Parts: sequence; C-alpha cells; structure tokens
Amino acid sequence: MTATDQTDKASALIATLAGHCYTSADVFAREQSRILETMWFCAARSDELPNPGQFKKIQVGSESVLVVRGRDGQLRAFLNVCRHRGAQLCTENEGQVRRNLQCPYHAWTYALDGKLVAAPNIAALVDDTGAGIDRYEYGLLSVALTEWLGYAWVCLADEPPSFADDVMGDVTRRLGDPGAIDCYGIADLRVGHREIYNVAANWKLIVENFMECYHCATIHPELVEVLPEFARGLAALYYVGHGAEFGSEISGFTVDGSAGFDPLPGVTAEQDRRYYAITVKPTVFVNLVPDHIIFHRMYPLAPDRTIVECDWLYSQQVVADGRDVSRSVELFHRVNVQDFEACERTQPAMSSRAYRNGGVLVPAEHHIGEFHRWLTSRLCATKG
Ligand code: FES
Ligand SMILES: [Fe+2]
Repeated sequence: MTATDQTDKASALIATLAGHCYTSADVFAREQSRILETMWFCAARSDELPNPGQFKKIQVGSESVLVVRGRDGQLRAFLNVCRHRGAQLCTENEGQVRRNLQCPYHAWTYALDGKLVAAPNIAALVDDTGAGIDRYEYGLLSVALTEWLGYAWVCLADEPPSFADDVMGDVTRRLGDPGAIDCYGIADLRVGHREIYNVAANWKLIVENFMECYHCATIHPELVEVLPEFARGLAALYYVGHGAEFGSEISGFTVDGSAGFDPLPGVTAEQDRRYYAITVKPTVFVNLVPDHIIFHRMYPLAPDRTIVECDWLYSQQVVADGRDVSRSVELFHRVNVQDFEACERTQPAMSSRAYRNGGVLVPAEHHIGEFHRWLTSRLCATKG
C-alpha cells in the first residue's frame, strides 16, 4: 500500500513510534552516534565570533566541540579534548583567548588552528632523545565545518555526508526551488533577538510538533489570526513550495498583525505576505517571512531534555537602527512557548503503559510517518 492509498482513507490512522523511543537511554545513545554525530549539526551563528580567539563550546551528540575563529579569520571546529591526558580544554560556554588555547591541567598550548605550540618540558624531551614531536599529530582533533545561511555547521563524521544533498537538499525539498531561500539573504542578516528555551521533552517530540499544524487551531490563537489557513490544521510543511498566506486584514508577521518592516530586498512578489516553515534534519527549523527569519537550533542533551536556541534575524539596518522588534519577536515567542508546553505535556506520557505501543497519526499528520521511517532506518542500520 502506498502512502497515498493510506491518506485517501479518511479514517486511516498510522502508528507513531513506541513510547520507549522517547525515554530510553539506549535509543538516545544510538541517536547520538548515528544521527547527531554523523549528520551536519548547526552549531553557532558565525557573526557571534567576529574576532580571532573567540570561541564557543557546544554539545554535539555526546561530544563537546569548540568552534574557534582563527588568526586568519577562518572558523574552525575541534573536539574539546586535550591530546595529553584528555582534560576538557574549555569549560566556559564561550570566551575569548588572546593567542592560544591552553589546557588548564598541564598547560599544553594549542594555536587557534589546532597545532600544538607549547608543552612544558617538551623542549628538554626533544633535546634528550633527539626526536621531535609532530605538532599537528598531537594537535587538537579537528571537526568538519561549513558555513551556510550565516551559521557554522559542524559534522563529526570522518567522512561527512554531502552538505548539498542533506542540508541544502532538505530546504529544496520543502521549497521546491534551490534558489528560493537565497532571496532572503540570511547570511547577511543580524540577530535582533535570541531566546533560549530549556525544554523537558525529547527532541523528536519537538520535531514532530513542528511538522504538523493539527494543533494550530487549539494552541496557537495568535498565529492562526495571522495565518488563517492554519486553522484548517494542514501544515505548510506538507505541500512542496507552499507558504501560508497572511490574512487579508494582517499587515505584518507580528503578535497583533500590525505592520512589520520592509520586506528583505530579495524577497519575491510570490514570497511576500507568506510564511514558509522548513525542517532541516536533524535539529534545525527555519521560518521565513518577508521581513525577518526565525531560526531554531536544538541541542538534544538527554532523552527528556532539549535546549532550543531561537534567533530572530533582521536586516542589518533594522538592527543597527535599534528598531523595535518586540511585536514580531512576541508572536513566535508565544508560538514557541505554546509548542514547548505541549511537548512537555506529552513527555511524561511516553513512559506510561498507555503509550507502550505508541499513539496514532491522523491523515493531516501522516508526513510525520516519513520522519519515523527515516529515524528507524538510521537507528537500525547495521553500520554506525
Ligand atoms: S591534560 Fe591537558 S595538558 Fe595535560
Ligand atoms: Fe506549533
């Protein structure tokens, strides 16, 4: 039976994943190794680290990763582990070093490109034996890094998958046109506001919730006011290339429908007055509206704990002029709080015997079944 056959039956209910998939430490460990540590992971906004020596520490699956701006202006990523006896190099979430990264344990010192540049008593050791140490061989272990949309994306895999197929491919599969996202010029925007949400729910519940709009009429009154078609419960995510249209009385994507800012310069007539939502597996959501972008990044920390960082991106002019972004921020902040409360309400039930075999997806949610099939295929693959 094809997915279409199933969707045609109005009563068709598809099974979700079983409850333990959202609570099990084993499943979470497999997700870390086979998804989070294997795929491209959106780590940091590049312009948060404008100066050489600035670094940010992030959690990617089970690994701590440093993203560092080099003296040559390049961003690089390294495992946050000293090559001597394994101390964590940086314990602060972010910071600035002057020239080098120095381990606080025995003071091995690494250049910003990862090379080992100093280690106490190493010179004496070399004198005694006549042998040098390869300063790159004992340098920090590097992690693949690519910049796109103004963010640094890292990948822990020895052989990273194609960024174009995976990350850009997810965007194209949703928007239907590889050039559509370029119209928003996201790399050149500035963060006008950031919220960090500490969510007591499994990361997959957050993805599944983002993928469907069956809940929109129930929990998102402000969003449905702005995007009336969401009241019907069909997610914009469902149709390739479709963006939900603003209501006729709505001037902008703001909490009260009042006017926002001028559309970003590249936004087309077709994209104006529309909202597009994109899921980039595994942990990114991109929301496009004409005058700003709402960009979510998740950090899954435990089966029942996910940090979500949400950036509101505006034109450089809007941010430089200190324009009031509060009404557009408030709209999606409310949506986020409403969504994350729903996920937190669901999480405790994942360990209930009532959910031992999972729940069901209604036709408007059937596309979540594809996400489940994708997850299962990755977690059950023999390699990894
Ligand atoms: S563990 Fe880092 S210098 Fe010894
Ligand atoms: Fe929602």
